[in-house]
Amino acid sequence: MYPTHYYQSIDSTNIKARELAENDAISGTAVVAGYQTRGRGRLGKDWHSVAGKGLYCSVIVRPGIALEDYPKITLVAGLAAARTLDRYAGKTSRLKWPNDVYFAGKKIAGILTESSALTKENQRNRYAVVGIGININHSLADFPQDLRENVTSLLLETGSVCSVEEIFLAVRRELLDLLQVFEVDGFLPLLKEWRKKDFLLGKTMRCVNTAGKKIEGLALGVDDEGTLHVRDSNGDSHEVLSGDVRLASS
Ligand code: BTN
Repeated sequence: MYPTHYYQSIDSTNIKARELAENDAISGTAVVAGYQTRGRGRLGKDWHSVAGKGLYCSVIVRPGIALEDYPKITLVAGLAAARTLDRYAGKTSRLKWPNDVYFAGKKIAGILTESSALTKENQRNRYAVVGIGININHSLADFPQDLRENVTSLLLETGSVCSVEEIFLAVRRELLDLLQVFEVDGFLPLLKEWRKKDFLLGKTMRCVNTAGKKIEGLALGVDDEGTLHVRDSNGDSHEVLSGDVRLASS
């Protein structure tokens, strides 16, 4: 049994998990909240929480992988969430790089991975906090009006209410299992499965990379390092190291 810290309400489970990780919490330790007052998404966005209806959790992981492989944890986390949701929904999800989970073009889960400072000196307390938000028992009215066309939940997909606790335990188990595969067999077997779920592949998309450069082009898929590539209208390929990836039609 891994330690789990439950909160009815908290600012952000990621903030609490980082605090615990800095104080040497073991791998697998998780923070779960019924509601977040300052839920955070990627790229500084907010993550909308609905009390008791979604899964808001952060799992501390300390995989025995090379320092330079730590950024790949984010793709592995997406795969863990996708596998879990496929099982519960009885259908196949897609992954929008780097790790959003979609059913039929609608987002059901998002992941915010934050790592300890990635320096060679920081060997002693190396960790990543995998923050997972999953829409579970939301009906459409639970989402802000402007999001309703683009989101879904397990309830909306299956017509049944699911146990948030059960999904939490399943997704943590899946994440830890996949990281063990990473340790033993490397990243490629996981990447192979990730590629089968690639939502953006072959689609025209816009993205903004960390350097702030706007690129519009055709998604070419991810390379063996997990980096997304796009080809623009001049035929030039670009690496998207990180960024807000959108379909050109959105
Ligand atoms: C995204 O899609 O932008 C990522 C969303 C991540 C949300 C989860 S909810 C639990 C954890 N705590 C946070 O503050 N954020 C993550």
